Amino acid sequence: MLASAILTDAVADFAADVRAGLTKPGQKELPSKYLYDTLGSKLFEVISELPEYGLTRADERLLRAHAQEIVHRIAGDIVVCELGSGSGRKTRWILEALSGRRHHTVYFPIEISSSALDVCRRELADIESVGIVGLEREYLDGLLEVAAQRRNRQRIFVLFLGSTIGNFSHPADVNFLREIRRILDPGDALLLGTDLEKSIPDLIDAYDDALGITAAFNKNLLVRINRELDADFELDRFEHVARFNPETRGVEMHLRSTQSQTVTICKAEFSVRFQKGETIWTENSHKYSLPEVSQLVETSGFACTAQWIDQEWPFAESLLTAL
Ligand code: TRP
Repeated sequence: MLASAILTDAVADFAADVRAGLTKPGQKELPSKYLYDTLGSKLFEVISELPEYGLTRADERLLRAHAQEIVHRIAGDIVVCELGSGSGRKTRWILEALSGRRHHTVYFPIEISSSALDVCRRELADIESVGIVGLEREYLDGLLEVAAQRRNRQRIFVLFLGSTIGNFSHPADVNFLREIRRILDPGDALLLGTDLEKSIPDLIDAYDDALGITAAFNKNLLVRINRELDADFELDRFEHVARFNPETRGVEMHLRSTQSQTVTICKAEFSVRFQKGETIWTENSHKYSLPEVSQLVETSGFACTAQWIDQEWPFAESLLTAL
């Protein structure tokens, strides 16, 4: 029997994606969504505490300072839905601001990491008159589900925080917002986080910290492939690389093979050769200018009704209305 015939759907999908990415001609790649297994989600929580990575703190400062104003700008009975909630810590400010309302609010965190979803449910369970319904789905599947469950006249308020939109290389960022817009109705709202341009040394430090947590986060993808797909990646033969691409104005994350070698991924039924110095591209994190944010919003069927920018770490929170 073929190995693939006895794999669960999730493992078979993972195997197919790994195979497609590592056998691709030219630049090898791995989808970044697989970074977030239980250990990866925890490592990302630690990244958000690193002195070099100011992004999550900027996001949280803005939400804490402006949550009341944000929710006041969205009238009526709303359902909140978050694409990639992680631990849900930043979302507390928005949900607390909503908990004073007449209506009971339902919050749908949409997360592919079941462990992050568990943390999120526990973290936010104490907020009064807010019910939490976790959806372990891909973003758009989860959002479709929320749209299907909405009652008459309820508005959907989507949170898309952090810098995840910047992980969709242009024009995939526009296309993704258009997909969101298509699922929403006019008048629904979207709070969009975007990391803004900053100096190249600051960016490199943010994605290659002194403690090596980001390197561990990136390399954990190989650990996951070893464990779940029965592969034989030798971790000390790969190194984490963060580099700024001036053409796309983003930070690219790679895993570089320090020697020529062959790796076998049993459950995906293939072996792959690496030249010395060859890399696997794992993530791209685009840094926006403000005109670029406006352009992104306008071309995807939204209008920006308010925007807040952090003074310490250039980062913008934009409140959008579906047109
Ligand atoms: N969404 C995060 C970002 O773009 C993801 C991230 C942070 C990341 N550090 C990383 C992804 C290191 C891969 C490797 O900031």
